[in-house]
Amino acid sequence: MDINNYKAMVVTEDNGKFIRKITDRSTSSLGKGPTLVHVKYSSLNYKDALSVTGNKGVTRRYPHTPGIDAAGIIVDSADSAFNKGDQVIVSGYDLGMNTSGGFSQYIKVPSEWIIKLPENLTLKESMIYGTAGFTAAQSLYKLESEGLKPPCDDILVTGATGGVGSMAVALLAKAGYRPVASTGKREKHNYLRQLGAVEVLDRHQIDDTSERAILKQTWAGVIDTVGGNTLATAIKSAKYGASVTTCGMVQSPALNTTIFPFILRGVNLLGIDSAMCPKEIRNILWQKIANEWKIPTLDLICIECSLEELDEKIDLMLAGKITGRVVVNLDK
Ligand SMILES: NC(=O)c1ccc[n+]([C@@H]2O[C@H](COP(=O)([O-])OP(=O)(O)OC[C@H]3O[C@@H](n4cnc5c(N)ncnc54)[C@H](OP(=O)(O)O)[C@@H]3O)[C@@H](O)[C@H]2O)c1
Repeated sequence: MDINNYKAMVVTEDNGKFIRKITDRSTSSLGKGPTLVHVKYSSLNYKDALSVTGNKGVTRRYPHTPGIDAAGIIVDSADSAFNKGDQVIVSGYDLGMNTSGGFSQYIKVPSEWIIKLPENLTLKESMIYGTAGFTAAQSLYKLESEGLKPPCDDILVTGATGGVGSMAVALLAKAGYRPVASTGKREKHNYLRQLGAVEVLDRHQIDDTSERAILKQTWAGVIDTVGGNTLATAIKSAKYGASVTTCGMVQSPALNTTIFPFILRGVNLLGIDSAMCPKEIRNILWQKIANEWKIPTLDLICIECSLEELDEKIDLMLAGKITGRVVVNLDK
């Protein structure tokens, strides 16, 4: 691979329109980052779809190469902790936001952002998890830090066919829990059962409009990926002392609730941020992902595509139509 002539997705801004193209690039355009990584796989996350379409809360400056996830091989590093040829994962921090990201055959990043690929995980598998799988793992880790452990009653997962949702259902099943999946996709109930869901609900069933302050105690825990009224409903339906994690806002960033679930039932609302997750927690979670939380249904969740095929997947994600995880093979 020629470091002076490789391919990357570049998004340019033209009169308020954002245009994406696969373009030839040279690593000299990546600036003077300390560590050069030859990217083998990346993955598509909702944040990338926002970056591609000009969301200035994610990316301020264009032209820009998105991609908040990358897995590949160290080419050159000023840090003695890494050797040429090491297999590594880079996800989160500023990658793909205002730092040129993983939809490219090369990235340059600070070495603090890099995790060595755990044994028992391939580069491709690490990107099937990617930020979405890492966020699902982080959500389960936080629930368990609040005392959740199997066996217990049902755990609700919202946005269940999405990237974070699919990984959460499969991780919970692998870890011995009873995940109940909520989805808007009728045709995907069987997929969710194959991942390990004990029950599948239509998303309307957990979008309560009664305006009651609390509802029947149903969930021993919740991993919410959509926010809005779905999150409010999940909080009102959590069992006494249960915890609810919140990471996403595809339905809405608004949260309209009262304090009653918190003061009458001791419910906990736990915020999840994967981007700046401390490195010691990252290492713990990647080890769990590669070992006791390694999902047997990864092939079912993965949709592999080339950089050229990514364009249509981005549109599908923005329309809420992706099932599972889109993994980008940069050698394809
Ligand atoms: N905090 C963090 O660190 C972090 C990390 C990763 C992701 N996130 C956020 O988490 C969210 C999910 O990310 P993702 O990668 O899983 O996205 P995704 O693959 O696009 O999945 C989102 C899922 O949400 C459901 N959905 C879509 N529109 C909806 C609506 N209007 N109302 C209710 N549900 C809807 C759909 O699932 P069903 O059809 O099955 O209902 C969809 O597949 C995003 O907001 C993302 O930015 C946050």
